[in-house]
Amino acid sequence: MTQDLLQGKTAIVTGAGSGMGKAIAQLFTQQGANVVFADLNLAAAQAAVDSYQPEQANAVQVNVSIDSQVETLIQDTLKTFDQLDIVVNCAGVPQVFTPIEELSLEQWNQIMDVNLKSIFLTSKYAVPVMKKQQRGAIVNIASIAGVRARPGLNAYCASKGAAIMLTKALALELAPYKIRVNAINPGPAETPMLGQFLKGDGAQKEDDKKKIFLDSVPLGSLIQPDDIAQAALYLASDLAKIVTGEILNVDGGRGI
Ligand SMILES: NC(=O)c1ccc[n+]([C@@H]2O[C@H](COP(=O)([O-])OP(=O)(O)OC[C@H]3O[C@@H](n4cnc5c(N)ncnc54)[C@H](O)[C@@H]3O)[C@@H](O)[C@H]2O)c1
Repeated sequence: MTQDLLQGKTAIVTGAGSGMGKAIAQLFTQQGANVVFADLNLAAAQAAVDSYQPEQANAVQVNVSIDSQVETLIQDTLKTFDQLDIVVNCAGVPQVFTPIEELSLEQWNQIMDVNLKSIFLTSKYAVPVMKKQQRGAIVNIASIAGVRARPGLNAYCASKGAAIMLTKALALELAPYKIRVNAINPGPAETPMLGQFLKGDGAQKEDDKKKIFLDSVPLGSLIQPDDIAQAALYLASDLAKIVTGEILNVDGGRGI
């Protein structure tokens, strides 16, 4: 594969301290981009930069659900790199299987804030920059749970379904400015998050992971962070220059 698909671009990847976000940020760096590894967990974001040792990467702490912190993230990126071409909204939180009547308003709000409001906030502050540049690519990591529900994941499914519709609305709104907005729906993926959807622990949890998640994937294996990174690279790069409003399932067939 070529090594310079993102040469000369600057990207922010949220949730870059772990799982898919880390794989995306590292692949983007490999492909020539300047990359801001943004995460609530600064130590993890820093470790993701250090373990990879790219010259053109920064680790930054941000809570993607807090307006002022997202504004600062965008401003600081501009100060450091002078431009902003790509935003990947990957930070997210899971939901432990919870019947709706047991879900607290606090849990509901937290899931909506991190999985959905974050996309509004990064768009609010990144889009003016991209409009001036007359170019930009936003990639939202939604979920196959946004189109195919599971019981007990009520708030999580709702947050991802809304993220998908927000992607489409922004794609139309921003097309005149040559800003593309796309989303990826990962299927069940082998990251620290997967086990957090389940109650219990130990052997039971491993058993449930297989029963509930692995067995729901027609291709028979969990999705790997790198599978998502390759899809994000395509959507963020000029390979997809005529693609916008697309919701790409990377899910081993789970969404069929
Ligand atoms: N793992 C799966 O099975 C799966 C499936 C479909 C979609 N997804 C989605 O993919 C994305 C990445 O998930 P992952 O599996 O790599 O998870 P992960 O838990 O490995 O990584 C999530 C990262 O987001 C960060 N984060 C959480 N809250 C934050 C906040 N408020 N501000 C900034 N950073 C914050 C965490 O610190 C962590 O580094 C999420 O949006 C998730 O909902 C995951």
